[in-house]
Amino acid sequence: MIISAPSDYREAARRRLPRFLFDYIDGGAVTESTLRNNAGALQTIALRQRVLQGVGAPTLETDILGSPWAMPIALAPVGATGMYARRGEVQAARAAADAGIPYTLSTVSVCSIEEVARGAKGELWSQLYVLKDRGFMNNALERAWAAGMKTLVFTVDMPVPGSRYRDRHSGMSGPGATVRQYLQAVTHPSWALDVGLAGRPLSFGNIEAYTGRRMTMNDYMGFIGSNFDPSIAWHDLEWIRDSWKGKLIIKGLLDPEDARDAKRLGADGVIVSNHGGRQLDGAIPTAAALPGVVDAVGDDLTVLVDSGVRSGVDVVRMLALGAKGVLLGRAYVYALAAGGQRAVSHLLNLFAADMKVTMTLIGAKTPADITRDALDCAAKHLS
Ligand code: FNR
Repeated sequence: MIISAPSDYREAARRRLPRFLFDYIDGGAVTESTLRNNAGALQTIALRQRVLQGVGAPTLETDILGSPWAMPIALAPVGATGMYARRGEVQAARAAADAGIPYTLSTVSVCSIEEVARGAKGELWSQLYVLKDRGFMNNALERAWAAGMKTLVFTVDMPVPGSRYRDRHSGMSGPGATVRQYLQAVTHPSWALDVGLAGRPLSFGNIEAYTGRRMTMNDYMGFIGSNFDPSIAWHDLEWIRDSWKGKLIIKGLLDPEDARDAKRLGADGVIVSNHGGRQLDGAIPTAAALPGVVDAVGDDLTVLVDSGVRSGVDVVRMLALGAKGVLLGRAYVYALAAGGQRAVSHLLNLFAADMKVTMTLIGAKTPADITRDALDCAAKHLS
């Protein structure tokens, strides 16, 4: 199929992946209202068109958390990426490195921290969930640091996994899941050949490195499911701030009060996120939450955002609402599933091109020029 827009990759991924995997990526919690509203709210953010501002060609380069980024975009942590394309984490990390932007490796990755660090030379971040097993967390922190990952993204919006009904409908979980997955795999041979017959059997490398045994999808579900702990509170995280010498970013908050708590903890940054609508169905869209968080902590912490970003125009909208940078989740995962590293690079080029055109049309020469002043009155109620 012809890919001319970032959104085309969703359809390409749908065709290539077995249904249980496509729906796992594509779906959200319960009625999926927050999933829909994330993208929907962004569409309502009106940008102020300016003319004859003499800005010339815009540049996307920016400095975030003390590092140079080629554009204000990073790749978000996404679990099981190596199931969507062969050694998918390495492929995505290489595309990010080529584009000059950070890649975040999920806790629950097929490729281990070490494999990704060996395979990709750009800026690598490591994501960790709040889990009961302190031994696992320490192990992951030590290995990330040793592999050169100096920024830790600590995800706090999953004290329990969200209810994802689509996963049961499509065979990711629920009765007969294994048989249904097998049947779907054999009817998607190009995916099965690429991923299913990859040199090593599919396994969750990071957890395997800790448990010392192969971790299949079911093992992983069991390990991770039994390890979430809803009783964990901010003060339980103090040991992380004390033991982690690198940058600490708290991911998954929407509320200004929570952002202030992250600041008190000593975080360097926050990611305003509702996990792409996969956790609290009914949570507000991140475009609506962002200005409040920026007002609360934006002078002291680096505020990043994700959820619902599907184009370079959306990136500009998030910057206008006060974010320093934006993380892409599904947008890059669809591309990876459709065409591996090359497709992710292409997607990032499309984002960069859209951003440049949008910046020219609003009269912004650099990302720093994109302020709330770039919002038209229709969006002012959000700020
Ligand atoms: C995620 N996300 C996520 N976040 C995280 O901190 N650790 C993880 O392992 C995962 N896993 C994961 C799997 C899949 C399939 C998706 C779609 C998402 C959330 C992710 O980092 C990000 O917050 C959202 O994807 C952003 O929303 P959009 O851009 O996908 O709409």
